[in-house]
Amino acid sequence: MSRFDQVISRKNTNSVKWDYSKNIFGVDDVLPMWVADMDFPAPEDVIDALHSRVDHGIFGYTMPGTSMEKAIQKWLKRRHNWDIDGKIVTYSPGIVTALSLAIEAFTSEEDHVVVQSPVYYPFFEITKKHKRKVLYNELLLNNDFRYEIDFLDLEEKLSNPKTKLFILCNPHNPSGRIWSKDELTKIGNLCVKHNVLILSDDIHSDLLLFNNSYTPLASVNEQIENITITCIAPSKTFNLAGLQASAVLISNDSLKRKYNETQQKFGLITINTLGQEAMEAAYSHGENWLNELLIYLEENVLLIEKYIHKHLPDIKVMRPESTYLIWLDARALNKSDDEIKDLLLKKGKLALEPGSKFGDNGAGFLRMNIACSKKTLQDGLERLKIALKK
Ligand SMILES: Cc1ncc(COP(=O)(O)O)c(C=O)c1O
Repeated sequence: MSRFDQVISRKNTNSVKWDYSKNIFGVDDVLPMWVADMDFPAPEDVIDALHSRVDHGIFGYTMPGTSMEKAIQKWLKRRHNWDIDGKIVTYSPGIVTALSLAIEAFTSEEDHVVVQSPVYYPFFEITKKHKRKVLYNELLLNNDFRYEIDFLDLEEKLSNPKTKLFILCNPHNPSGRIWSKDELTKIGNLCVKHNVLILSDDIHSDLLLFNNSYTPLASVNEQIENITITCIAPSKTFNLAGLQASAVLISNDSLKRKYNETQQKFGLITINTLGQEAMEAAYSHGENWLNELLIYLEENVLLIEKYIHKHLPDIKVMRPESTYLIWLDARALNKSDDEIKDLLLKKGKLALEPGSKFGDNGAGFLRMNIACSKKTLQDGLERLKIALKK
């Protein structure tokens, strides 16, 4: 029995996933397998660090120090063979906050921002809220049911003089695709050529499955590093999203200065005390827990593949190279997203993310979060079958 088999109720904890179904889906009695957090407790070392910080009892202003920088440096070196200088690190409560600050800092109203849909929806929603124009470099599905980048279209969009920022998701949410070093080099070189900055959201980069490795875009070469803002966080990796602590890595001094000025403008210069404690403990002591987690997630991926292949053969499962979000292709059912959503909620009592939320080319897909016990996953799969079996 794995520690991740334990089912712990998250109801009545103000959990977005478990306590807000009524607000979000209009129904209460559904199994939630949508928002990207896990149903697992954080590593014990993180919980212990939080306990001792709480026991201290004094919660005045705090600021992450050099020990945090060292913890991040060591983590990136150990897990991704990436050497960074401690001085490039700055902090953010969340990656969406960092994204919003970067748009504010590095672009102006009416500028263009390129995203690769289907993609984590705040990339385009936040951009629009800033009154910047979103250009969609749609990802293409190849014959192996894998997303590829349309580089011709990407270059056309990057070469538009109004394009100032490209937002990359590496690894990619919702597909779990990890961009290869070659792809990253091409992306980076195009952005260098056309003078476009890159925000690389690498929040899922620690959740590497099936022996896949990940290359941080900023590690490809110095020119690319110079135009890249990288966002990392322990929030997905160790299930700490509610503690709101992330890091933003900017090597280029003048970009970092501009970003820091924008943080100051909005009073977002530090992160909360408990988030700091959790982040440092996770990066310093969370490795064994993470290794165990990855094995459990791989088993869950295999389980969902097998189940769907057997019971719902019209649905295609995209095997993730990273993270715990499964992209399901339900287009062969020939139903609209609304019809599918209705069937899932009313017949299956199951809440998933509809693919169209990730961009128009996500229509007909579903995103299922499998970071839960096998018992919960089995329950979810049975509900999926009840909802969608012909
Ligand atoms: C790609 C990506 N970026 C950012 C976030 C959210 O980050 P945060 O909670 O730190 O704002 C998510 C959450 O699902 C995500 O998938």
